[in-house]
Order: sequence, then structure tokens, then C-alpha cells
Amino acid sequence: MANHVVDASFTKRLPKVELHAHLTGSISVLTLHEIWKTRKAADAAFSMQDPLVALPLDKVSYDIVSFFPLFDSYIYDLCSSLSAIRFATEQVLRDFQADGVRYLELRTTPRENTLQGVTKELYVSTVLDVIDSFSHQQTEMSTYLIISVDRRNILEQAMQAVDLAIQFQNRGVVGVDLCGNPAKGDVSIFREVFDKAKAAGLKITLHFAEIPESSTREELRTLLSYEPDRLGHVVNVPDDIRDEIVSRQKDIGLELCMSCNVHAKMIPGSFGDHHFGYYWKDTQCSISLCTDDVGIFQSSVSNEYLLAAKHFGLGRDDLAKLSRRAVDSIFGGEAEKDRMRKLLSAFEKKEL
Ligand code: IMP
Ligand code: ZN
Repeated sequence: MANHVVDASFTKRLPKVELHAHLTGSISVLTLHEIWKTRKAADAAFSMQDPLVALPLDKVSYDIVSFFPLFDSYIYDLCSSLSAIRFATEQVLRDFQADGVRYLELRTTPRENTLQGVTKELYVSTVLDVIDSFSHQQTEMSTYLIISVDRRNILEQAMQAVDLAIQFQNRGVVGVDLCGNPAKGDVSIFREVFDKAKAAGLKITLHFAEIPESSTREELRTLLSYEPDRLGHVVNVPDDIRDEIVSRQKDIGLELCMSCNVHAKMIPGSFGDHHFGYYWKDTQCSISLCTDDVGIFQSSVSNEYLLAAKHFGLGRDDLAKLSRRAVDSIFGGEAEKDRMRKLLSAFEKKEL
């Protein structure tokens, strides 16, 4: 029946959660272009390349070597001032809300810029100010923040990130993440960092098995020993470790990023080969479809649901079930889970 077809309009209307979105990677190219125009107008000598040229809208394919430098040597420089950080954060929130996201956990790595007078603390408090003000302007979407530790951090920097997460816990920071270039760093140095976060009542999510180099048994066992509440990507996971994750499904939710994994060539093959199929069909794990970096891979959350429908044969009721399965592992507490489940019940009543 035509009205039971899964299309972009349906997946947009479906109330969704987004649990794995890096703030800086979620800034759209058009928003970056606005920031670039403002800087260009204020300073004739400003020489950075226009984002429309540096990040062409029709380019979504990257590899691990070209992907991470996009942040370190381009986007961070472009968005270094507090006004740019404010503007970008607000646009990111608007974009998720317009896509039908009704519960968002945004994550970001505290960064500083001495020239601009931006400290890590000021960076985090500025992002939280924007989230607060956005939450006051509308009631459709709840937003929480996760603080990221970069794999390249030394212990002291990672500890500083966790201390900031604890400092701002009463302002909506709900968890700590481990992210960054998976070809770098030694994750075993972070045990006390995640212990401290857990002891403070923060949740933990870890980028897990993104590329073969970061998927040694030793690394994966170390990460699991940090008792994460969620894992991101879970690409190169040996069968026994996969079975362990599935056996811990009551405690560990999975954040799956299909477009990112396909476009960054992290999986062999294409969408139909993605491990989403296994976790959806063969397990009861809490799975959430996530964008990771929608500004770069150009695939919104609603498009990830559309891709799941297209490549794995999910119908309308399956997609609503999938959205419910993601709610189980949110970090924002029971009241937020209830709110999302009510939204989904109302949606199912009206649309299924
Ligand atoms: P930010 O933390 O808000 O600055 O977002 C950008 C940062 O997120 C990057 O510098 C990376 O450290 C991290 N990031 C974005 N995408 C990925 C990914 O696919 N794997 C690991 N880290 C990522
Ligand atoms: Zn990520």
C-alpha cells in the first residue's frame, strides 16, 4: 500500500534519537561557509579556502588518512572563535531537530585557542550555553552533552577532559567518550580516567574496533574492561568478542554508523554488507543508527533509517521498533526514555 511505503518523509517524521554525533563533524558545509563568509567580510587578508571548495558537497568518500586532518588542519581553524563555536553549535542543533531527532546526545572534545582567548572550560560552557538556550526556545528535542577524550591525549589531558565532564555534570553532561584517529594512541593508559568518570556517575561510550590496527584482542579486551555503557562502530570484532558483547547486551548499547563506515571504507563492500544486519536480525542488542559526522558524510539520521529500510528490508513498523531499541541505551535517564517511548507510541498510533 502506498501509504505504507518507507520514504524520506516517513523516516523524517519518525521520532528518533541520535547518540553518536561529533559536534565539529556535524557542522554542515553551508554553516561552515557562513562562518567563512563572516570572517572574510571582517578581514580582507583572511586566506582560508571556502568550505564549498575544501569540502565539496558531492564528496563523501574519505579514507582514514585524509579524514582526521580535515579537523586538525581545517575545520578547527575556521571555527576557532567563540562566536563561530556558538553559531555552529546552534545550527547543528537546528539541523538535528529539523530531521526529526527528538533526543540528542552531542559529543565534543574540549579544545582551547590561546589567540582567541578560548580555554577548554570556556569552550564546554559555551557549547552548554547554546544547548540551554536552544532547549528554552523549543521543547521538541532534548539535548545532552558527552565529553570526548582524544586517543592522542596524554593521561593529564584525558583527566582534564573528565574533570570538565564532572564539573558540568549538573548542566547536562551525561557521559565520556573515547574517540580520535584509531591509528594513534595507546588506549591502555586511560583506565583511571574512565574509572573516575564512572565513579562520578557519568556513562561511558568508546569508539571500538574501527580499523584493524585498533582491533587487536588486547585493545578490545582493555576497552571492554573499562565497562562501557555503549560502543561505537564495532566493525572489526572477532567472533568471541562479538559474542561477549551480545551476552552483555543488557549493559552495552551499540552505536552503528553505516554511512560513515561505507564512505570511509571501514567495511569491505557496501551498505548491504554492514554488520547492522547481524545485530538487527540475530540479537536483541540496543542498536542506534548514528551519523557520526553528518557534515562530512552528508547522511542525516533519517537517511540512515532510510538506508536500513532499503538495504535490509525494514518496513515502517520495523523502523519504529528500531527507534525504540535505540532508546534503551540513552544516557539521559528514565524520564527521557519515557518521553521518547510516549512520542513513539503516539507516532505508531497515528502512522502504522
Ligand atoms: P569534536 O570533538 O566536536 O571536535 O569533533 C571532531 C572530532 O571527533 C575529531 O577531531 C575526532 O577526534 C573525532 N571523530 C570524528 N569522527 C570520528 C570517527 O569516525 N572516529 C573517531 N573519532 C572521530
Ligand atoms: Zn565517532
